[in-house]
Amino acid sequence: MNYRHAFHAGNFADVVKHVVLARVLAYLGRKDAAFRVIDTHAGAGLYDLTGDEARRTGEWEGGIGAVLRAPLAPAIRDLLGPWLDAVRAVNPAAADDEALARDLRHYPGSPLIAQALTRPQDRLLFCETQPGVRAALTESVGRDGRAKVLPTDAWQALHAYLPPRERRGLVLVDPPFEEAGEFHRMAQGLFEAHRRWSTGIFALWYPIKDVRAVDAFRRDIERAGIPKTLSIQFDLRTVRQADTMTGCGMIVVNPPFTLAEELRTILGALAPALSTDGTGRVRVGWLTPER
Ligand SMILES: C[S@@+](CC[C@H](N)C(=O)[O-])C[C@H]1O[C@@H](n2cnc3c(N)ncnc32)[C@H](O)[C@@H]1O
Repeated sequence: MNYRHAFHAGNFADVVKHVVLARVLAYLGRKDAAFRVIDTHAGAGLYDLTGDEARRTGEWEGGIGAVLRAPLAPAIRDLLGPWLDAVRAVNPAAADDEALARDLRHYPGSPLIAQALTRPQDRLLFCETQPGVRAALTESVGRDGRAKVLPTDAWQALHAYLPPRERRGLVLVDPPFEEAGEFHRMAQGLFEAHRRWSTGIFALWYPIKDVRAVDAFRRDIERAGIPKTLSIQFDLRTVRQADTMTGCGMIVVNPPFTLAEELRTILGALAPALSTDGTGRVRVGWLTPER
């Protein structure tokens, strides 16, 4: 497996995933009680957008770059606030948002966003199997008594660490989708994890590339009948192209009651900036509603 997220960090798919992550964490932080974040496919944590890999694809320009340049209404900026705070935190040289848009240098991965949006009482668990990536993650997480970086395989983590002691929190599942069977593994992982912890929030990311595989995955999730399962789909354009990721989706089990409406508003506002041809669209709806 040679997937390296550094090529894709900050692209439109990261924007969608990280907006969802940040809104869930902002909601969890409303109550004082501690919660736990388990990031099963953590990646390196911090990405240098001036580095070789990011420059080779330039994908971030159409993602975080486009968002920072977009004329967004104050209400949208407020909803994006927690995520953008995490972006600002890793770009301390940018004096204001204009400078951030002009000189963006670093982009935070999901572990650093989680670190930025959690409190002293919260706990963080990051799994990453690639030794080099894990070393980079350990360095970017730094000395943080709340956080553990582990070499545990994601699918084992869903057995081993659930339910967490806090009984509140989020599991983010964000596989690289480089190997056959990833959709199946993710669905099975969710069913097992939900059996162990039925009240946890689970957020699963997937690419929209092989539409048949996506449909089969969504049907499997629907058939499982897990209550309160929200579906978010974001298409960069309506015309699909074989073997190209033209969109991405997320499944969120037990979402905060505010999430669906927030995402319709935020992603609807971001669609014109992220879309490649002006036909970007957002679909947010229940796969299975509350019982
Ligand atoms: C898409 S990237 C993660 C990006 C990260 N979640 C973010 O949003 O910043 C997927 C990561 O999962 C790692 N990985 C792949 N298979 C894994 C497994 N079975 N268990 C844990 N990590 C895995 C890869 O090395 C890669 O760094």
